Amino acid sequence: MSHIRIDNLTKVYMGRRSRPRNIHDPEEHFGDNILVLNDITLGFEEGEMVCILGPSGCGKSTLLRIIAGFEPPTNGTVRVGGQVVSAPSDQSIFVFQQGGLFPWMTVYENVGLGLRHIRDAATKHERIQEYVEMVELEAFEDYYPHQLSGGMQRRVELARALAVNPDLLIMDEPFSGLDFLTHMKMREEVVNMHEFLRKTTLVVTHDIDDALIMGDRIVVLSGRPSAVKLMHALNFPRPRDFEKNPGLSRLRSEIFLMLGVPYAV
Ligand SMILES: Nc1ncnc2c1ncn2[C@@H]1O[C@H](COP(=O)(O)OP(=O)(O)OP(=O)(O)O)[C@@H](O)[C@H]1O
Ligand SMILES: [Mg+2]
Repeated sequence: MSHIRIDNLTKVYMGRRSRPRNIHDPEEHFGDNILVLNDITLGFEEGEMVCILGPSGCGKSTLLRIIAGFEPPTNGTVRVGGQVVSAPSDQSIFVFQQGGLFPWMTVYENVGLGLRHIRDAATKHERIQEYVEMVELEAFEDYYPHQLSGGMQRRVELARALAVNPDLLIMDEPFSGLDFLTHMKMREEVVNMHEFLRKTTLVVTHDIDDALIMGDRIVVLSGRPSAVKLMHALNFPRPRDFEKNPGLSRLRSEIFLMLGVPYAV
């Protein structure tokens, strides 16, 4: 059984002026309602890293929010581990699109946020340290987010998410706003962590190369109203290299074309 099962998922954001008469109306706008996701059916396996691509505004963040239980679907269901999602759960965690760290808390306190349920102080301390070390920030435990670089802040977010030991890790554009080198290093870190921990991970990215280098599976969504354009398992050996792997390069060109860029850069 799939770890995540999405069946006939449709999402309409209701405008203030009208209610939808027919959510399957082929017209994108009816009144000022917006049909964002249109009849999406997908299944992801336990432990997979799934990368989701699609044009800006197509509903990627909406899809993640629905899977995480922050947003109700208009139609259809999402099941995680067989259970229908109807509210946010402690077992899944969201790495937010933009800096989700609390500025008034240190690195140590931010990483400890998801561990409030651990009563034993020593166990909790050990767990926080383990994950701070995993992202190599042990010298910065007492720093506040504003004293860290953008890349270091992302690593704290990652440590915080992983420390919870969630069944499902959800990341919305985890590398946005990072410089090229930090982006490459963080990507490698996420791939290594995934190899090590094997958590089911969903990553939304607008970067086709990120998706092809990281994913065990790739999903390409169309422009709004969004439907699944491509769902493809990536059975390429790691570490992945476009130059050494013509199959991967070909897929890259196909996806560029699919997203409206005829000549892959
Ligand atoms: N809470 C909301 N209420 C009404 N409309 C919304 C809401 N959230 C998103 N939308 C609309 O839904 C559409 C999809 O938004 P979403 O943020 O899911 O797109 P996205 O694919 O993540 O875009 P991007 O790549 O730019 O992050 C947009 O047209 C947006 O205006
Ligand atoms: Mg988004």
